[in-house]
Amino acid sequence: MKAAFIRDYGGRDALEIGDYSDPIPEAGDVLVEIHAASINPIDWKMREGYLRSVFDFPLPHVLGRDLSGTVKAVGAEVTEFAPGDLVWGMGNPFRDGSHAEMIAIEAKLVAPKPDALSHVEAASLGVSGMTVIAALDRAAPVGSGDRILIHAGAGGVGSLAIGLAKKRGAHVITTASAANAEKLLELGADEVIDYRNTDFSTVVGELDIVFDTVGGQAHQKSKGVLKPGGKLAFVNTGPLPDGPDRDDIEVIDVRVPGGRANFDRMADLVAEGAITPWVETEMSLDRAREAYDLSQSGHARGKIVLTIR
Ligand SMILES: NC(=O)c1ccc[n+]([C@@H]2O[C@H](COP(=O)([O-])OP(=O)(O)OC[C@H]3O[C@@H](n4cnc5c(N)ncnc54)[C@H](OP(=O)(O)O)[C@@H]3O)[C@@H](O)[C@H]2O)c1
Repeated sequence: MKAAFIRDYGGRDALEIGDYSDPIPEAGDVLVEIHAASINPIDWKMREGYLRSVFDFPLPHVLGRDLSGTVKAVGAEVTEFAPGDLVWGMGNPFRDGSHAEMIAIEAKLVAPKPDALSHVEAASLGVSGMTVIAALDRAAPVGSGDRILIHAGAGGVGSLAIGLAKKRGAHVITTASAANAEKLLELGADEVIDYRNTDFSTVVGELDIVFDTVGGQAHQKSKGVLKPGGKLAFVNTGPLPDGPDRDDIEVIDVRVPGGRANFDRMADLVAEGAITPWVETEMSLDRAREAYDLSQSGHARGKIVLTIR
């Protein structure tokens, strides 16, 4: 099969696009023909080897987590799927991933794809959607009347978070460059702060929730804009600076869940209109290096999806 894979860690050239051995499903697996797979920052971070202490997979290794496709075969222990079923899901990072024509994936990690989503849309939601569910549906549940600041609203995670928070009735403030403001107002933001020209910590305060997908100084300053009892939900973006802590706020390190029940929950949120895919860029698998470059630039809009078969 064709795949985007690494033989060793490294920069752009470490990603090879070419022939790779066909996956062989184990007893609890489904073999999925992949129609679309999205790009997440974790993919180029893994390529670079930044996460090797956490995800110690054997090389060579196919990158990619999110997928949408058709079941081609099922392992001996799998009863809930049959060839021809359309599924979406998020793969196990220790095994070969989804930037490929086929994947052998644990059946418990995929779910029936919602009919309302195309394969491209479904593939776009995996890691980003799961992160938003973990943060704003669970760890820091956003509700009516909450004032929330969502960092990096133009990103894969931030853009979905805006939609969910708006649907829940919150007042949504987000940071983005000016060029993205109009789109984010369309997605449901009430206020967009141009982070290149305005320090958000000087213009907002007394917030209920901050969702931080930027890290660094933005993380530290976010603590200062919460009201007592407020919540700072953040995802891993790299090392965080030391700084004064507050004991009257909750700081929550959001971990991304996966698995069928969570994808079923996401399907409900999609049906409710609380999670709406925003795919800005589609590229063929042959252009995976370009797609990784765009993600690594730190300035992709919405999601980048590889169209595969
Ligand atoms: N649990 C986890 O560990 C977990 C889960 C998911 C994501 N993450 C991490 O979270 C980060 C974001 O993920 P993502 O998928 O949303 O990334 P992404 O789609 O690549 O985000 C790109 C967006 O970030 C915006 N941006 C960059 N710097 C900014 C700043 N200082 N302030 C405001 N916006 C800024 C850019 O907007 P402009 O072009 O307008 O600058 C761009 O639209 C990544 O580091 C990712 O690895 C971690």
